[in-house]
Amino acid sequence: MIEKSCFFMLCTNSTEEECLTRNLFGEREWALPYLKTIKIGDIGFLLNVSKDELLGIFIAKSEAALNIEPEAWGGEFPAQIKVELIGELQRISNASQKLKDFLELKKVDRGAFSYFVTKMKTYGPDITNKVLSLFIIPTNFESELQELKATSASSEFSLANVAGLDEIKQFVYQRIIAPFEDEERAYRLKLKIGGGILLVGPPGTGKTLISQAIAKSIEAKFIEISPSVIAGYPGEAEKRLEKIFDDLKKEPRAVLFLDEAEWILSERTGEGSTIMTRLKPLLLSLLGKIFKERTKPIIVIAATNKPELIDPAFLRPGRFDRVFYVRLPNEQARIEILKLQLKDRKHNLRDEDIKEIAKKLEGYSGADIENIVDEASFKAFEKKDIIKKEFILDAINRIPKSVGDEEIQRYEEWARNRNLLGRL
Ligand SMILES: Nc1ncnc2c1ncn2[C@@H]1O[C@H](COP(=O)(O)OP(=O)(O)OP(=O)(O)O)[C@@H](O)[C@H]1O
Ligand SMILES: [Mg+2]
Repeated sequence: MIEKSCFFMLCTNSTEEECLTRNLFGEREWALPYLKTIKIGDIGFLLNVSKDELLGIFIAKSEAALNIEPEAWGGEFPAQIKVELIGELQRISNASQKLKDFLELKKVDRGAFSYFVTKMKTYGPDITNKVLSLFIIPTNFESELQELKATSASSEFSLANVAGLDEIKQFVYQRIIAPFEDEERAYRLKLKIGGGILLVGPPGTGKTLISQAIAKSIEAKFIEISPSVIAGYPGEAEKRLEKIFDDLKKEPRAVLFLDEAEWILSERTGEGSTIMTRLKPLLLSLLGKIFKERTKPIIVIAATNKPELIDPAFLRPGRFDRVFYVRLPNEQARIEILKLQLKDRKHNLRDEDIKEIAKKLEGYSGADIENIVDEASFKAFEKKDIIKKEFILDAINRIPKSVGDEEIQRYEEWARNRNLLGRL
């Protein structure tokens, strides 16, 4: 018995080849919410409706996102998910006939041509195992599933644990994860992998979280440099910084995370003689080298919640040439964050409750939501109970949102001036 959910995607004779060569399944944009229910590690099957063939066995390797590969199928199916074929490709003929034995199918009429499709939903392990019984199970199947679990899905820092921020995730898939998975081809095309990204947004919106998740997704070392980290080290600051960059050279891949980046990316006229102003020229020259070489997959991610201090000169091509506005979570993202927070805690909230709570949490950041669920946990503990809706509502009443509306206006204005709002 395999404890995995499964999903079906459709193709035709003309779209099949691209699914197989790209290891990518795609649908029209409106199907994205369906694809979003698929978790990394779920088992996928490809139903070729022209031939009524079921192709498999695949495993979902990414979360769904729009335009992971924008050129696939001429842009017609932008809601996409990366998959991996396990073992040899197998083709089960008369698929609808066989599937009808254990799941309900929907009939689609296209004039003279009609066919059956599965419903747009993920199915539980009972169905997974029934569908798998149509296939020859490869010998390494369970170990592949195990390995995938160990490397991605269960990881605290995987991208699956970051809610919302779709634009950044999409960029990460296209520009970072995909090239890193096929470094040889990327190398032959002289793709410039690596480089700098700047994340701008209010506190607690997931800037650090997504940076750690990016590192994890490419199995890169995560190295943080920030005033607080530097201040925390004993010894001479310059030496320490040089050592960090020396060590970086030994890493095959790395994500260098510059937190509180305004201190380093502000205008050069820093005054005073704090350690940080003293270190600035050195750090800039070390970073300059990394940006210039671009031979090694090193990604520099800078994060700040003081964008007005950033000198635009740093945002030019070849430096931090991609800037993202990391905004407060929208309702859908708040639902996801609540679910992520409740995942491993005992609670009795239903989906409707979570939706209702998410509505009330407008303006709250991801960190605020974590805080509220923590509070509700304490209340449940005190009452020798599990987390209930009332505990969460009570925590919301007691805990105000941490970022004020005026502050948000300031971010939005900055983002609007940089043309970052329209793309979201
Ligand atoms: N988009 C998100 N998805 C899931 N969890 C989130 C998200 N945003 C915030 N959180 C939760 O809030 C916590 C804090 O987020 P994080 O430290 O990444 O914020 P930040 O943007 O780096 O804040 P700061 O600007 O204060 O450094 C995370 O560990 C996570 O639990
Ligand atoms: Mg942070």
